[in-house]
Amino acid sequence: MSPSNISVKLVRNVASGAPTLADFKIESTSVPTKESLQNDQILVRTLYLSVDPYMRGRLSGAQDSYVESFVAGKTLFGLGVGVIEASTSPDYKEGDIITGDTLKWECKFIANARGFTKIPASSGISPANYLGILGMPSFTAYVGVVSLAKAKAGETILISAASGAVGQVAIQLAKARGLCVIGAAGSDDKVEFVKSLGADAAFNYKTCGDLTAAIKKAAPNGVDIYFDNVGGEFLDAALANMNSFGRIAECGMISQYNATEETAYRVKNLIRVVPKRLSILGFIVSDYYAKPDYANFITEVSTMLKEGKIQYKLHEIVGLENGPQGLLDLFEGKNFGKLVVKVASDAQQRL
Ligand SMILES: NC(=O)c1ccc[n+]([C@@H]2O[C@H](COP(=O)([O-])OP(=O)(O)OC[C@H]3O[C@@H](n4cnc5c(N)ncnc54)[C@H](OP(=O)(O)O)[C@@H]3O)[C@@H](O)[C@H]2O)c1
Repeated sequence: MSPSNISVKLVRNVASGAPTLADFKIESTSVPTKESLQNDQILVRTLYLSVDPYMRGRLSGAQDSYVESFVAGKTLFGLGVGVIEASTSPDYKEGDIITGDTLKWECKFIANARGFTKIPASSGISPANYLGILGMPSFTAYVGVVSLAKAKAGETILISAASGAVGQVAIQLAKARGLCVIGAAGSDDKVEFVKSLGADAAFNYKTCGDLTAAIKKAAPNGVDIYFDNVGGEFLDAALANMNSFGRIAECGMISQYNATEETAYRVKNLIRVVPKRLSILGFIVSDYYAKPDYANFITEVSTMLKEGKIQYKLHEIVGLENGPQGLLDLFEGKNFGKLVVKVASDAQQRL
């Protein structure tokens, strides 16, 4: 045992307001070895970890959430990709690459051999893609655009946080279905990227002035579908621009995740839901993995990938010790693309 394994632990739960680096602790721990494996366990070397907005909910300590909370003093966990270094399970062998949503924020760890998916050998796809274009955020875009909003050619869709992990796929799935796509993002570089993905119009919501007017200018015929990633003031402005029988795919409200009772934005235009006969379709992607939608998503996006018809931007930060800062950066828009932490130096290996 050598003391050079790194793990990221939570110091305290943060119920509301913005978390800070002081809420996390980087610890050096012993490197687990295969001699410590009990029956039906695996020794995993972490390659990539996913950094996602939903982790803010896990920091809160809430017991009534759809995801398990992080516990003060314990190691963080979440979506990731790792390689198996040793196994006492008949289902896994040394060298298998696995993905799952219970990877520890630790360079190496021992886990019970359950709840992981093997990534097919020789797929030619980089492991980080299983956290992005072939992973949870991309499927989230599919569920919102296809399964719930039932996007149809000729309609207009508005997408907030359009350059992000979910937004960039939502744009491309909507374009592939013949919609007019309007994207909003928080910097001019991001706006250019959104346009490069095929958006018909895009604007910087931080510099555009009046949000309702900016949406109206980009979508003069109104919005049929709003894919909401941010909530708050932008949701209000979108509500003011919705066409009759419009659908709001309510994916997330990141602008409110660090809000306090005092700073929470109170939506004013909800009254439009009745006269405009709007549907607000809140969803959690994990409810859809067991439905045919998931297989349809994999078929569609894998084909688009093979044919070079879909792009995906990853934002990679290097080193597990930088993971907490990455998580905080999400809430300030400092990521440009899907945020992942490259934990192992050889993580980019192609399969
Ligand atoms: N329902 C589900 O199952 C599900 C699954 C995955 C994700 N989500 C939700 O989808 C949304 C996007 O997630 P993602 O993984 O794709 O993240 P992301 O877009 O890659 O990163 C977050 C982005 O949100 C924007 N943002 C941050 N703070 C903001 C604020 N105060 N106001 C407006 N925008 C802000 C920033 O982009 P800008 O620079 O453009 O502002 C930032 O880059 C989140 O709300 C997340 O919770 C939901």
